[in-house]
Amino acid sequence: IKIYVPLDSGSVALGADDVAKAIAAEAIKRDEDIKIIRNGSFGMYWLEPMIEVETPRGRLAYGPVAPEDVNSLFDAGFLKGGEHKRYLGHTQDIPFLKGQTRLTFQRCGIIDPVSLEDYRANDGLKGLENALKMTDAEIVKAVTDSGLRGRGGAGFPTGIKWNTVREAKGEQKYIVCNADEGDSGTFADRMIMEGEPFVLIEGMIIAGLATGATKGYVYTRSEYPTAIDVMNEAMEVARAAGVLGDNILGSGKTFDMEVRMGAGAYVCGEETSLLNSMEGKRGVVRAKPPLPALEGFMARPTVVNNVISLCSVPVILEKGAEYYRDFGMGRSRGTIPIQIAGNVKHGGLYETAFGLTLGEIVDQIGGGTASGRPVRAVQVGGPLGAYFPRSLFDTPFDYEEFAKRDGLIGHAGIVVFDDSVDLMKQARFAMEFCAIESCGKCTPCRIGAVRGVETVDKIAKGEEPEAQIELLHDLCDTMKFGSLCALGGFTPYPVLSALTHFPEDFKPHGLDIA
Ligand code: NAI
Ligand code: SF4
Repeated sequence: IKIYVPLDSGSVALGADDVAKAIAAEAIKRDEDIKIIRNGSFGMYWLEPMIEVETPRGRLAYGPVAPEDVNSLFDAGFLKGGEHKRYLGHTQDIPFLKGQTRLTFQRCGIIDPVSLEDYRANDGLKGLENALKMTDAEIVKAVTDSGLRGRGGAGFPTGIKWNTVREAKGEQKYIVCNADEGDSGTFADRMIMEGEPFVLIEGMIIAGLATGATKGYVYTRSEYPTAIDVMNEAMEVARAAGVLGDNILGSGKTFDMEVRMGAGAYVCGEETSLLNSMEGKRGVVRAKPPLPALEGFMARPTVVNNVISLCSVPVILEKGAEYYRDFGMGRSRGTIPIQIAGNVKHGGLYETAFGLTLGEIVDQIGGGTASGRPVRAVQVGGPLGAYFPRSLFDTPFDYEEFAKRDGLIGHAGIVVFDDSVDLMKQARFAMEFCAIESCGKCTPCRIGAVRGVETVDKIAKGEEPEAQIELLHDLCDTMKFGSLCALGGFTPYPVLSALTHFPEDFKPHGLDIA
């Protein structure tokens, strides 16, 4: 009997390893013949550790399971899908999962992450097989026509970026996967690398075929040890099966890749700083131009794409550009894995076509706050994203719609706050975060962020608060328009949104709010 217990870091943090051990021990005691498969998570973190049993009725889920539940699960006959207080029914029928459109994450949670047979049995490698029959220009056209835009946050059309690299002259070109997932409340990159590593490998090979790059790197964080292990194991399996390396699937084409680990600076998620870090230099931002597409890693033409952008490519090549493009709204085509976090009842990853409103995501899918208090603010797009009040909950999840309201969807992380949040403290935190993480290359960010913290502190202490608020606006303008990269350039978003939508919080607190 197959039992699935996630190896996903989020599930492990909630006790999945202990649950797996308890199940194995209890099975020996009861002389039950079971096989535990460590799968990826489906991304329903409030139900983790969520285990599944494969039965003739299909895969049945139980969660959240604690080691103390294991004895009673066996007593209840869970190996045959018996009733138990943790019983959730068919995994695929859990409403949070059933409501999703899973294109990029279609196999995450379902398969054994390092089994290439499982991956193939679930339509894996079909995109690559199709790509191998196409010219580089045809692959680029398919990706361009699909409307796929960079899922790291900037939303630049992936096909256009690939075409720049394809047309660039250079003996050696590179594909660099930006897996330096640093935004607060985001975990999509980690979840897919841990749960479905072959889709990233497949996406990177296709990017290589499209651009003429023969070498790829996945740049990730030291905080992601499980993702690194799973990726490394999957690459070995792929190499042994002729999917990666020389003569990909007998085509005579070559592509190989490796994982590189950063030391964990937020700014190393910025593409040029990431490239410096990969070259063994300090993670300082480079001025653009030249674009990495023309002079990237080791000054060679380089595609730098986020994990989710690359993982969305196989399904496009498998099912066609039109299939993918038919999901979404406006210029935001396809699906987006929204990561719902913070003070929320149903925290997790929800992949859906663009277009749901923020209110639907927070109130219906997220189920409101975990504390049961009213939602007051939602930060969308990481620590550099804007705080949206309830009055903007009708904003559809779409790059342009968020930009129109002075926000950004970024890497699609949303963090929910209840009515106990103090937006002046959050504004101070944004400035402090920028001051700590600044690479120091440009003045508006390096100095501006420090002055920003001081200015908020003066408001808190009641030192000419009105003049300080005006100064804070000025400072944000300077940072927004004068910074070299998005770290300094986007820090004003959380600060200005807090000032605009929650002005009542910017008042003397009578003390230092640090
Ligand atoms: P950008 O707008 O400067 O560039 C977007 C991408 O398009 C870059 O890769 C750039 O090299 C490329 N590009 C532009 N013109 C091109 C051309 N003609 N040919 C080929 N490539 C071209 O934005 P940037 O600074 O790379 O990213 C900022 C974004 O990063 C923000 O929107 C923010 O949301 C996001 N972000 C994401 C984080 C995460 O953890 N995923 C963390 C912090 C910020
Ligand atoms: Fe460095 Fe900040 Fe300037 Fe970006 S904005 S280049 S992080 S100092």
